[in-house]
Amino acid sequence: MGKIIAMTNQKGGVGKTTTTVNLAASLAIADKRTLVIDFDPQGNATSALGVDRSKLNPNHTVYQALIGQVPMSQVIVATEVDSLFVAPATSDLAGAEIELVSSFARESKLKASIAEIRSQFDFILIDCPPSLGLLSVNALTAADSFMVPLQTEFFALEGLSQLLNTVGLIKMNLNPGLQEEGIVLTMFDGRNNLANEVVKEVRTHFGDKVFETVIPRNVRLSECSSFGKPVLLYDIDSKGCLAYLNLAKEVLGRNQPKVELGALRQSQGVVESGAQVI
Ligand SMILES: Nc1ncnc2c1ncn2[C@@H]1O[C@H](COP(=O)(O)OP(=O)(O)OP(=O)(O)O)[C@@H](O)[C@H]1O
Ligand SMILES: [Mg+2]
Repeated sequence: MGKIIAMTNQKGGVGKTTTTVNLAASLAIADKRTLVIDFDPQGNATSALGVDRSKLNPNHTVYQALIGQVPMSQVIVATEVDSLFVAPATSDLAGAEIELVSSFARESKLKASIAEIRSQFDFILIDCPPSLGLLSVNALTAADSFMVPLQTEFFALEGLSQLLNTVGLIKMNLNPGLQEEGIVLTMFDGRNNLANEVVKEVRTHFGDKVFETVIPRNVRLSECSSFGKPVLLYDIDSKGCLAYLNLAKEVLGRNQPKVELGALRQSQGVVESGAQVI
């Protein structure tokens, strides 16, 4: 079963899409079949993965999958990276926020549409929009965990408590199993004292919930999106590329041992009655 991670922060421009696209590409390079679900009507992840939105079949996007008009499997397209796929979004998705309001189980629509394809992937990353509306609620209801890209700037922590409150409500009412994947610090500029202070403060507050890897401010990361490529295909030697490869290593490290341990126990036929296989 693929692990579903919602990439979320209601603050705009903090590096959600850049992190989604480049972490996904790095996981794919590590031979993990990975799907990016573009869940933002801006469609930035779609473009950053080289999909020309003007050439898409407008009736086969995430929006139609979300409202149950077409199966998610018919929406997914391949990218230039082997093992990396994207469910593309167009501005149509903005309508869903309003259209779904009166529908039954409106918060679980994405979860329902992912169920069919989940087993085909190792990782499914959902790129959330910069708001805590119904789209983000759907993403957090469908997800196993959530990752928060946090820009290393003065107002970094602003809004984080609101996000964590929303997550708490979703855990209580819609998705009790939702876990924290971690906080990833983005756009770090080491020459800036304030950025160093922010890193320290976030680490003090959130401890090992914060990934060791810090994503540097790196012009290659902003350039590659406009060429419709993950940085791996644009400048593999850049600091930005290296950082996302390291982040992928950490994500794999946080997830893999559990799988391997479980598989090992099963293969050894160890029966631990009442014990949870982790
Ligand atoms: N590490 C980085 N170094 C340099 N530029 C970056 C970096 N990360 C992101 N950017 C640039 O910052 C801008 C915002 O990044 P991005 O689109 O990933 O944020 P976002 O949180 O997805 O934004 P939105 O909330 O609008 O969806 C983009 O122009 C992107 O290219
Ligand atoms: Mg974005």
